[in-house]
Amino acid sequence: MSVVTLDKISKRYGSASPVVDAVDLTIADGEFMVLLGPSGCGKSTTLRMIAGLEAISAGTLSMDGRVMNHVPAKDRDIAMVFQSYALYPHMSVAENLAFGLRRRKVGTAEIDRRVKEVGDLLGLGALLARKPSALSGGQRQRVALGRAMVREPMVFLFDEPLSNLDAALRVNTRNELIKQHHRLGSTMIYVTHDQVEAMTMGTRICVMNGGKVAQIGAPLEVYWHPADTFVARFLGSPPMNLFTAPLTRTSEGFGFATPGLTAPLTRWSAATLAPHADRPAVFGVRAEDLHLDRAAAGPGPTGTIRGRAFAIEPLGAETLVVCETALGECTARLPRTVALRPGEEVDLLFSASAAYVFDGATGKAIPADETASAVRGVLRSLQ
Ligand SMILES: Nc1ncnc2c1ncn2[C@@H]1O[C@H](COP(=O)(O)OP(=O)(O)OP(=O)(O)O)[C@@H](O)[C@H]1O
Ligand SMILES: [Mg+2]
Repeated sequence: MSVVTLDKISKRYGSASPVVDAVDLTIADGEFMVLLGPSGCGKSTTLRMIAGLEAISAGTLSMDGRVMNHVPAKDRDIAMVFQSYALYPHMSVAENLAFGLRRRKVGTAEIDRRVKEVGDLLGLGALLARKPSALSGGQRQRVALGRAMVREPMVFLFDEPLSNLDAALRVNTRNELIKQHHRLGSTMIYVTHDQVEAMTMGTRICVMNGGKVAQIGAPLEVYWHPADTFVARFLGSPPMNLFTAPLTRTSEGFGFATPGLTAPLTRWSAATLAPHADRPAVFGVRAEDLHLDRAAAGPGPTGTIRGRAFAIEPLGAETLVVCETALGECTARLPRTVALRPGEEVDLLFSASAAYVFDGATGKAIPADETASAVRGVLRSLQ
């Protein structure tokens, strides 16, 4: 068992405002939890407080119910892999892997067994006698991972461990880590600002913004149900299109009807939207939910964003089209066959079930009502 609980954990340097602010987070036994957020949002600081490398200013950290705030780092059963890993240059790969175990007075036969096992797992078997200077960057990174893995700790902490690798190695090592997590079943906490890593590796994602937790949930849950405009834009590439516009009463209920944007809102009841009427709200739609032809938008009511294409970006598998609209820029992810020219006027169509609405003042999502939400799920599964 290794459940890690952060109860209103904060970190404050001097009298400045906290860099980690009352973070509440429970990481279940065997879970792969990803801390995701932009640079400076407090991810590394949070991880370092869990590791015992940084004092906790306020709140309680516990592991399996035991308060850990004042337990020294060396007595926490944790292994941490940093972005800037440091291998011992004068030691071979095998000696680097064995070092932590030697210090813990593990028997020689057991050390040999674990070094061989982890070496084989990470594809380092043939390199065990080499010095780090004779390894590629990716191989060194794997040795750093291996050093944490031989320890077989209760909890693994990773701070952007893949950011020094090239694109292909990143994908390989990412898959290797996912495999290792399945095999070991250990609790893992992984810091990244890369949303693809977060979506593919995490059992759950904790999105952080300005030292606070913005949202915690399974990757697709956070993607489909962002708690606020920050999360909506942070997860998704290109980010969700957001436009501030007045929410008005229409013949069918409530919706947006303003130059550049028509959006019926079928996922919300009139009672939910009435308090927001005639005030600015934020309308959101993802780039992949925008289409040029009506049929592609799917069954049911549709909305329209009118704009002028100014950048056509063919990516091979698809084409991104960036349009200028009366409300701001809008990006659509369209089929690679799209034949648009810069300057051309376009109507981007979307199913009403793909619309999001956020409170204009707070940026918080206005959650759709259950029945309307279920309809969206069914429509999506039919597409
Ligand atoms: N020793 C320190 N004294 C004062 N402020 C600090 C100290 N260490 C970190 N900070 C501040 O705390 C904030 C959070 O830093 P942290 O390293 O946790 O961010 P991060 O989310 O890991 O960012 P990145 O993605 O860039 O690594 C930053 O604004 C940083 O400047
Ligand atoms: Mg960091």
